[in-house]
Amino acid sequence: MANLDFKTLVSHCKEYGFVYQSSEIYDGLSAAYDYGPYGVELKNNIKRYWWEAMTRLNSNIVGLDASIFMDPQVWKASGHVDAFNDPLIDNKQSKKRYRADQLIEGYAEKVLAKADKEVKKAAKRFGESFDEAQYRATNGRVMGYQEKADSALKRMGEALTSGDMQALYDLIVELEIACPDSGSREWTEVRQFNLMFSTQLGAVAGDAGKIYLRPETAQGIFVNFSNVQKSTRQKLPFGIAQIGKAFRNEIVARQFIFRMREFEQMEMQFFVKPGTEIDWYEKWKEARMKWHLTLGHPAEKLKFHDHDALAHYANAAADIEFEFPFGFRELEGIHSRTDFDLTAHQELSGKKLQYFDPETNESYVPYVVETSIGCDRMFLAVMANALQEETVPDADGKDSSRTVLKIPAPLAPVKVAVLPLLKNREELTNKAKEVFDKLKLHFPCQYDEKDAIGRRYRRQDAIGTPYCVTVDFESLEDDAVTVRDRDTLEQIRMPITEVAMHVKGKVSLESLLEKLL
Ligand code: GAP
Repeated sequence: MANLDFKTLVSHCKEYGFVYQSSEIYDGLSAAYDYGPYGVELKNNIKRYWWEAMTRLNSNIVGLDASIFMDPQVWKASGHVDAFNDPLIDNKQSKKRYRADQLIEGYAEKVLAKADKEVKKAAKRFGESFDEAQYRATNGRVMGYQEKADSALKRMGEALTSGDMQALYDLIVELEIACPDSGSREWTEVRQFNLMFSTQLGAVAGDAGKIYLRPETAQGIFVNFSNVQKSTRQKLPFGIAQIGKAFRNEIVARQFIFRMREFEQMEMQFFVKPGTEIDWYEKWKEARMKWHLTLGHPAEKLKFHDHDALAHYANAAADIEFEFPFGFRELEGIHSRTDFDLTAHQELSGKKLQYFDPETNESYVPYVVETSIGCDRMFLAVMANALQEETVPDADGKDSSRTVLKIPAPLAPVKVAVLPLLKNREELTNKAKEVFDKLKLHFPCQYDEKDAIGRRYRRQDAIGTPYCVTVDFESLEDDAVTVRDRDTLEQIRMPITEVAMHVKGKVSLESLLEKLL
């Protein structure tokens, strides 16, 4: 059994109706994607699992659906107008545009890959007795590579924090970083580029009518803090959860749905008493990691990356990174955002955003711990982990290879496929349609009578259907069917009346939710 490479994953997504390039018939709009019939079901299931885990399992977390358009002052207060920038640099020869920080990170990755190569070679040389940690800590060459990468990343972090674009440029030149496209080292200066998309509100022309497409959903939560707290009479600590679109004019948008210009976020802001935020931050880190692990992702594919350099508003921050086919990358962020956002909105709007604490009889601006995950990245993580090729016995018992999407059953777009053994026998198709009509009340089902049964199984495997129910001639006599399990390939004969119960055990969202308790 092996996970398939990234290129195969992208073409599988298209071929089987999960994700298409946006406006494909016009050659496609870059960094925008459309979710196809199975993709939209999977995405909705991911959202539902997140939503229920937040709002159903925590009686102190409530939902919100704020509008995408907000008063432009929101983005002034949040710092996005002045500081939501990426440093961009152009290569003079290829005319290609890059993010300066990504060029430096790419350099560091290459240097670290050299260190890994050395370690691999040594592991082969020393065999069983090899101690990797000791080798990394003592081998001069490996230590040299590590230091080189660390120093580049440290200097980059300092330049980004202080907004020193000249220092970033100098670093790129000093490290002799070349354009990945042309190999040229002729660079323009590094400039700041604001990532927010803007548009015009109504008929007002010019700057007066300028509004932004939200670059994060979080601000819709902050500006509604008092509304929600008062209307639901929540006491601290409590949270507000939201799922919605966000827009960023990414300079370099690539790696399929990993980095897009229009994407979806699932964010939860947890409001706490000042001084308790680090405890809550640790709790949410643990809770979010648990959520990911319930989906059956191997633990070694997930890790925390604690931030050393913190944004000006945070006093702790970490990413949950997932091992995508192109390496470990950020999947979710957990941030202790202090009282920065509420205080900034309070100051600019002149409206109080405080909480009256009945226990201490004082009012204060709560601190906030945020969990923020990209829905599209989660979709990509689920697909990357699920798509596998394996060797299984075919109908004659011979080895054959199959492509299967082992999506966690509660997230699968279709839960059950109902298949009459033969297409041109009306008694079989009628019976199968009867079974289908019963099951579709409980689950998203598919009826399929085209092609040989083996090919129909393969089609269902490719879209990740956990169960196939086959209706054969015996079914006409005994009212029983054969239920095939996608993962084990086990085939169980059972009365039609028991199928729904059997399937439910594995495909219900509750089976995932209970693992979180
Ligand atoms: N409110 C905090 C916030 O927006 P972020 O780290 O900028 O934090 C949170 O974004 C999550 O949103 C990321 O971990 C990632 O999963 C997702 N995300 C961010 N930019 C994205 C993009 N261009 N395309 C797809 N997902 C993105």
